[in-house]
Amino acid sequence: MAVWGRTGTIRDCPPLDSPAGAGLAKEGITEREWAALLKVGEVISLKGSELLISQGDTYDEPGDRQLYLLSDGECRIEVKGKPVASIAPGDFVGEASFTSGRVQPRTATVRAKSDEIRVMAWTWRDLQAFMDNPKNLRTKAALQAIWMEGLAGKLNDVMSALGGQSVVELAEEDKTRAGDYGYRYLEDTREVESIVPISASTLAWWTFTREYRALRRTFRFGEFKDTGIAGPFSIIDRFLETSVFPVLRPSRVDLPQDPEVVDLQNRLNELKLSNKAIEDRETARIAATKAFLEDESRKGLRAAGYILRSQTPWYVMAPYKALCWFLDVVFEDRPIQRFWFLETVARMPYFSYLSMLFLYETLGWWSGAAEVRKVHFAEEYNEMQHLRIMESLGGDTRWSDRFLARHAAIIYFSVLILGYLVSPFLAYNFSELIESHAVDTYTEFAEANEELLKSLPPTPQALDYYHGGDMYLFDEFQTSRPAFSRRPRIQNLYDVFSCIRDDELEHVKTMFACERGTGALPSPNAAAATPRWAQDATPTMPNATAPNIRRNTVKRAETDDAGGGGRSGGSDKLRTDIARKTPLEAFTAAFNPLRDLVKAVEKRDVTEKLRRGRDNGGEQGTDSAVGARGGEEEKIDVSASRKEPEEKQDS
Ligand SMILES: [Fe+2]
Ligand SMILES: [Fe+2]
Repeated sequence: MAVWGRTGTIRDCPPLDSPAGAGLAKEGITEREWAALLKVGEVISLKGSELLISQGDTYDEPGDRQLYLLSDGECRIEVKGKPVASIAPGDFVGEASFTSGRVQPRTATVRAKSDEIRVMAWTWRDLQAFMDNPKNLRTKAALQAIWMEGLAGKLNDVMSALGGQSVVELAEEDKTRAGDYGYRYLEDTREVESIVPISASTLAWWTFTREYRALRRTFRFGEFKDTGIAGPFSIIDRFLETSVFPVLRPSRVDLPQDPEVVDLQNRLNELKLSNKAIEDRETARIAATKAFLEDESRKGLRAAGYILRSQTPWYVMAPYKALCWFLDVVFEDRPIQRFWFLETVARMPYFSYLSMLFLYETLGWWSGAAEVRKVHFAEEYNEMQHLRIMESLGGDTRWSDRFLARHAAIIYFSVLILGYLVSPFLAYNFSELIESHAVDTYTEFAEANEELLKSLPPTPQALDYYHGGDMYLFDEFQTSRPAFSRRPRIQNLYDVFSCIRDDELEHVKTMFACERGTGALPSPNAAAATPRWAQDATPTMPNATAPNIRRNTVKRAETDDAGGGGRSGGSDKLRTDIARKTPLEAFTAAFNPLRDLVKAVEKRDVTEKLRRGRDNGGEQGTDSAVGARGGEEEKIDVSASRKEPEEKQDS
């Protein structure tokens, strides 16, 4: 480390009209606000080639200097000894780690390039306290705006210098990689839908006129064209058009003429999905999970409540089976439409859970669900992105599919509202079944069509979401990825479906955690964003245990005690263990048993048990847990063929 020399007091600080203050002055900061900011920092001078920051150093005490603003001179940024960028007066250093709040070794060395440099330095503690003060809101906003701009530039510099592609280059590459599949059903209504709604009656009228035209078109030119019912309806519509209805304009939806788009649509139609294969996959996963839990060494997991079969009663299984049957029958050989339908209804559980949690809060019954609400909203937002991707692939082009999906969504929403009222445990259990089914379906689809999918381009919607700079709330529903990490970069449609499947697996895991009320739903993002030194001072994350879940657990514990069981006792122990930990540790602890289970299923360590169980004529239960692929002698692998480095770190 450099030898630091304090050069004095506030009088030695740079004025607002110097290069150091220019950025903040541009953001509208006054002399008074500038002086207040400088007052909580210190001025430091450094001789040429001395180090301001050394790569690999950790700064994890609240009194350590963390953020610097270059006032005079020039500095060089080096990564592994290689110069990658320069910084000039007015540039900040350390804003990335300050804003993320992450305690991690410095990722670059910053060295004085001029004979003498002068910097303003702030400690984490002082600057955080300054920014938390409502009086300094304007300065805080100005600082954040400057940091965001600076970070984007630095990232580009570093990427280019390291021989990789800059963010701009990657975005350009995405543009050339994206494929236009020519499906635009909702494009003309998006603009209308994205503004603040005017009133329910206006919205209802817009929707009615849109669907009314769509219905008329579909009878005349669309999916009912070749059926017996289309003829009479079409004739009646034409007759009414001359007397009552307005003329249908445009008369028909123009099909794409571009040969490239037509070719993409034709190839998309070749994608297959076998209902039988999905069923086999589900059966194998259930058997594998059962075999895993039956092993003597997993007594602890069973004690902690990881016996799933007995927790899914027939009245939850029945609607689940009915939904699966419906999907199989209606969407046979139409996988994209099936996914679109699935994604439409998949958002409904989150809508209903959020509605009920807001109601509980409004009534003053239960106010401890802030974290759970955040997770459910993040899941819902993620499902919406899946939905948009499916729309860009033509999942919603048929009027009949849209009709079915909308009505199924209303029913699904209402049923889950009721379910959540009676028992959040069962509502979450039902969702877990659906999400597991989604994992199985996407896994089967990706594997069965791997070659074709790899030859098809990703859609702009998928690239926007998975590669965009702001993956809004993406970290909030992740259970096993390091905070701020992203899915692997997307090259083709196979990668898109792999990403969606991995998202679904995260939904399964969070539903699993909600069911058991393990009391820890802080996201990896939330946990990692709390610096280590601040964790002790941070209140324990709100307990995610719903009242009904707690009651169920207590009830089960009583039953188990009477019958010599002890499952819920284990659950309570798990909860107690978690409550004693810091948020980050609590998060990890809550998912450890589940992660073990996933890993074991992935690593085939249940294959032998599975075979033995079948040889013994062991029954297959209705358990639902995490996805796995299977077949009797087949490899069992939950997350399909692509392994991610982040997941390997977890094992
Ligand atoms: Fe989804
Ligand atoms: Fe999902």
